[in-house]
Amino acid sequence: MIKKILLFLLVAFVGIQFVPVDRSNPPVTAAAEIPDSVYTIVKRACFDCHSNETDWPWYSYVAPISFVVADHVQHGRKDLNFSELGSGPGGSMVAPAEEIAEAVVEGWMPLREYVQMHPEAELTAEEKRVIEQWAESIVPGLKSTIDEQKQAEESTDSEDSDDSSED
Ligand code: HEC
Repeated sequence: MIKKILLFLLVAFVGIQFVPVDRSNPPVTAAAEIPDSVYTIVKRACFDCHSNETDWPWYSYVAPISFVVADHVQHGRKDLNFSELGSGPGGSMVAPAEEIAEAVVEGWMPLREYVQMHPEAELTAEEKRVIEQWAESIVPGLKSTIDEQKQAEESTDSEDSDDSSED
């Protein structure tokens, strides 16, 4: 019985390797205009999912993990693509800058699963500040909005937990 189950799993595993996965890297048509200081950070921590220059790791060739990786890249590129941003829709970097700064300061980007596999993608406080300052230069007032949001979230968090001694 166990042998049959193992055989079934083996056949299924081999079988799903034949499901096609799109690992294409389309051409970079309109690279985002961002300063080098910001580029270095996002190239390291964001480009695998948010550009057409994805570095596909070996496990992106092994189903079913490949499905998850390809899904992240597909959705990531759809939401924000540094290779097709140019200076943004209508020549404006306002919306992207705002979203990028929020995502990194609030810490929901880069995706946690990605950082587990790519520890070098973890952003330092200083790097988050560089991104936030760049975004502030495009969207004046953004920094205080983000800081307020963050504080509001933190105070809700500490109300929820017993440990409110952090502040
Ligand atoms: C492992 C892949 C991955 C990495 C690495 C990654 N992202 Fe994302 N990102 C996603 C996915 C997938 C989404 C789509 C939203 C979702 O489904 O959670 C997303 C969504 C976003 C959004 C939301 C856009 C919107 O429409 O609201 C922003 C902004 C963003 N990412 C910025 C970044 C930045 C900045 C970095 C680097 C610091 C980064 N991401 C790194 C996968 C990634």
